[in-house]
Amino acid sequence: MFCLAIETSCDETAAAVVRDGQEVLSNVIASQIEFHKKYGGIVPEVASRLHAETISPIILEALTRAGKELSEIDAVAVTFGPGLVGSLIVGVSAAKALAWAIKKPLIGVNHLEGHIYANFLTPIPQSQVLSFPFICLLVSGGHTSLVLVRGHGNYETIGRTRDDAAGEAYDKVARFLKIGYPGGPIIDKLAKEGNPKAIQFKRPMIEEEFGLDFSFSGLKTAVVNFVNKAGGTENLFSGGTRLVDLCASFQAAVVDVLVEKSLKAAKQHHCQTIALAGGVSANSALRQELKAKAEAKGIVVHIPPLEYCTDNAAMIACAGYYKSINSSFSLAPIASARI
Ligand code: KG4
Ligand code: ZN
Repeated sequence: MFCLAIETSCDETAAAVVRDGQEVLSNVIASQIEFHKKYGGIVPEVASRLHAETISPIILEALTRAGKELSEIDAVAVTFGPGLVGSLIVGVSAAKALAWAIKKPLIGVNHLEGHIYANFLTPIPQSQVLSFPFICLLVSGGHTSLVLVRGHGNYETIGRTRDDAAGEAYDKVARFLKIGYPGGPIIDKLAKEGNPKAIQFKRPMIEEEFGLDFSFSGLKTAVVNFVNKAGGTENLFSGGTRLVDLCASFQAAVVDVLVEKSLKAAKQHHCQTIALAGGVSANSALRQELKAKAEAKGIVVHIPPLEYCTDNAAMIACAGYYKSINSSFSLAPIASARI
C-alpha cells in the first residue's frame, strides 16, 4: 500500500510517500524557521500563509522523489490536530482534495500519534523491532507526555506536563538568552562544550509525590532568575560564568527529569522497551543518557533516526497505514457505543 501523507500542524510543510507503513520512498520538508526566526517564535498567520504557498510544490516533489504518479497512491493521510488551526486547515484541505480526486480513502492522523509511529519507520535493525507494550516518551515543542502503548492504536497517557512542554522551555530559555530560534538544537550544541554540573538547577517535580507528571516552566524561570540576579547576561558572562555552562546545566536538569520519569514509567507498567518521539528526542544528551541508564536496567531504548524526530510527513503516513489496516480488521461491535 502506497500512502501519501501531509503534515502542516506547525511550521513545517511536509509531504511523504511511504510503502506499507515502513519503507520511506520520499520525505520532503519545507521549514519556515527562517521566516519566524526574527520574531523569536511562530507567527500563526504567517505560518498558514506560507503553508498555502508551499503545499502543492511539496506534494509534487514528494511524488516525484518517490517515482509515483498520483494514480498509484492507495490512501491519503493527513495530520488533523493538535496544532495551529490555520496551518492544519491547509493540509487537511489539500488532503481532502487529493483523496476526492483519486477516489481513495482519506485518513486523519493525530500529530502525537504520528510522532510515536516515527519509531516504526525503517531503517530499524531487526534487534530493535518494537514489541508491545512499550513506554513512549513524547517530547516536542507543544507536548511532553509519557504514553503507555499497548498495541497499534491502543494508547494511554500516563504522565504529562502540567505547564510548559520541554521543547517550549528550550525555546523560551534561548529567546531569553537571545541565542536564536528554535532553542533546542542551539542549546544542545552549546551544551556539548559546557559543564552540566556548573550550576545546580533544581530538577522539577522529580519527587515521588508528583508521579509521572512534569513541569518545565519553573526551570525556565530559574534560569531567568539566575541571570537577573547576576545583573543580566553581560554581567554574568563577564563575571566568569560561561554561556555553554549555563546551557549544559539547564539541559542536564531537563534530561535528568525526562530520563528518571521514563524509567519510573517502564517499571510501574512492566515495560521492557522505551521509545522516544518528538522534536526534543533529537537531543543528544537525552538520547545518550536514556540509553545508558535504561540499558543498565535491561530496558531496550528505541530512538527514531534524527530526520523522523522533528515534524515530518513520513511518520504520518506510517500512522495512517496502521490506522487503515486496523480499521478493517479490529472493528468490534460495542453495544454502548457513543458518538
Ligand atoms: O516535534 P517538533 O518538531 O514540533 C512540535 O510538534 O512541537 O518539536 C519541535 C521542538 C522545538 O521546541 C525544538 O526546540 C525542539 O523540538 N528540538 C530540540 C532539539 N531539536 C529540536 N530540543 C532539544 N534538543 C534538540 N536537539
Ligand atoms: Zn511535532
